[in-house]
Amino acid sequence: MRLIQHKREAYWFYRFLSLGYDRWVNPLFWTERMRASVLAVARLDDRGLRTLDVGAGTGFTTEGVVEHVDAPRVTMLDQSPHQLARSHRRPALHACRRIEGDAEQLPFPDGSFDRYVSAGSIEYWPDPARAIAEAHRVLCPGGVAMVAGPLPPRNAIARRLADTWMLFPTETQYRDWFAAAGFGDVEVVHVAPEWHRGGREEYALAIAGVKGEQAQTVQGPAEQAERLDAPLSPADRARFVARFVAGSAAGAAFVPIGAALAARERLARRRVTSRRS
Ligand SMILES: C[S@@+](CC[C@H](N)C(=O)[O-])C[C@H]1O[C@@H](n2cnc3c(N)ncnc32)[C@H](O)[C@@H]1O
Repeated sequence: MRLIQHKREAYWFYRFLSLGYDRWVNPLFWTERMRASVLAVARLDDRGLRTLDVGAGTGFTTEGVVEHVDAPRVTMLDQSPHQLARSHRRPALHACRRIEGDAEQLPFPDGSFDRYVSAGSIEYWPDPARAIAEAHRVLCPGGVAMVAGPLPPRNAIARRLADTWMLFPTETQYRDWFAAAGFGDVEVVHVAPEWHRGGREEYALAIAGVKGEQAQTVQGPAEQAERLDAPLSPADRARFVARFVAGSAAGAAFVPIGAALAARERLARRRVTSRRS
């Protein structure tokens, strides 16, 4: 089903979600500790690295990037102007370049960057293989790409909701996309927020790979990428509305579940602290 795994649906989803994203949503599902773990495999080992953050949104992950790389060397790309506009509230990102664009058709010449990072965006891309081929194309030889994204939940109800909402790829899919794009020296790390009771292997991962020194530019799929601005027939418009409403409802269901589990975890921690003191 994956109703929001389409560019127009994702655009409108973030048109509304951006209003409460930084305050109510992101802190539940994507924490500073997780961010540090995924950025560790991106090998941000020089402040001068030309770094591209794809699906940068309001800049939470980019804030982690600029701890390692000088902000003027960092480009934030997102298809949502509403998300990008919110990133101006983060003083550390003032000097970053911001570009409205599509992960599957990056508006940069081959070999433009030393590092590519993307956190929590792949699940909305209609064609992840195409986007990861684009990551490979825009990196220079020796460049590193890191993509962080969700894994399929084990719980049957959560799995059903997840599959209705967007793409939760398996680790094998992530690895296959990186291999097909031509990345080598692949590394994977699993992450989860503190409240998550299951193993990290059923929450999210980051995969990183290196573009070889002799690597050829990888060709993406021959067919056209889905377009955000494609004209809609009345039937397409009806399909869009149905997908948007049902997909957003499935996604929204994760917020109270996450909030309840996070509150339970905080309470348990407080009890342990008060028992000790
Ligand atoms: C969950 S947010 C992640 C934002 C940010 N990376 C962070 O760490 O908070 C996903 C972002 O991906 C963007 N996005 C979705 N599909 C995209 C596409 N095809 N191209 C570029 N950005 C996309 C959304 O607009 C949204 O801002």
